[in-house]
Amino acid sequence: MNNTEVEQVGRDVIDLSNNIEVSPFIAELLNQPEVYQELKELLELEDVGEFKGRFESSYKHSLDTAKIAEVVYDNYLVGNSAERFEKIDKETLVKAALLHDIGKDRIPLDILVKEGKLTPSEITKVRAHSVNGAKKIQAIANQPDFEGDREKMWIISEVVKRHHFYSEGYPDMGELWEHPDEEKRALIEEVSKVLSVIDIFDALRSQRSYSKEPASASVVREILLNKIPGEEELVEFLISNFIKEK
Ligand SMILES: [Fe+2]
Ligand SMILES: [Fe+2]
Repeated sequence: MNNTEVEQVGRDVIDLSNNIEVSPFIAELLNQPEVYQELKELLELEDVGEFKGRFESSYKHSLDTAKIAEVVYDNYLVGNSAERFEKIDKETLVKAALLHDIGKDRIPLDILVKEGKLTPSEITKVRAHSVNGAKKIQAIANQPDFEGDREKMWIISEVVKRHHFYSEGYPDMGELWEHPDEEKRALIEEVSKVLSVIDIFDALRSQRSYSKEPASASVVREILLNKIPGEEELVEFLISNFIKEK
C-alpha cells in the first residue's frame, strides 16, 4: 500500500464511523495499514444485520477509548503523574487503546448479540478476546513485509493480552513478569493499568454494556476503584473531564 492509499483508507475509516471526530494524532494511527485493517474488520462485524447486543459498537468504543487515552496522556500524565509519564509513551498507549478489543471479531455473532445471561462456555469464548487480540497483533508484527515498529507491536500485544487483568477467569496472563527488560516490563504494566481503567470507564459512561443508562459519577467511582484499587487520581480526572456530576 502506498502512502496515498494509506491516507485514503484512514479517511474511509473515519467516514465509515459516522464522522466520529478524531485528533490528527489518532487519524495518523488510523492511517497505519494494520490499525485500519483491524478496525475495519470490527466495523464490518457490526454491520452484519442489526447489531444490537451487549457489546454494541466495539468499533465506536475502540475509538472512544483511544480518544480518552490521548486526553489522559496529554492532560493528566504530562502534568500530574511524572513517574508514570516517564514510563509510558503516547503511541503505545493510544494504539493499544485502538486495538485492545480486536479479538472480539472471533466471538460468534450469536453470542455478541445475545440478550440475557451467557452460559459458562459462552463466557469463555468472550474472555478469549484479549488473548486472541494479542495473537492477531503478534501475527501482524511477524509478517515478513510488516513495515511498522515490530517491538512496539509486541509491547502492544502484551498490553492487549492484559487489558482485563483485574478480572479473574481470563486466560494466559502469566508471562509478563518474566520479561528480562525492566523498562519494557514497566511500560507494559503501566499502559495495561491505565488502559484498563479507561476501558471500564468508557463502558460505564456509555450505554453499551453494564447497564442501559450511563452510570453516575459515584457509581463509576465505586466500580472502578473496586476493580482497580489505587487509581483514585486517574479516576477523578476521568470523572471530572468526561462526566457531568449532578
Ligand atoms: Fe476487552
Ligand atoms: Fe474494551
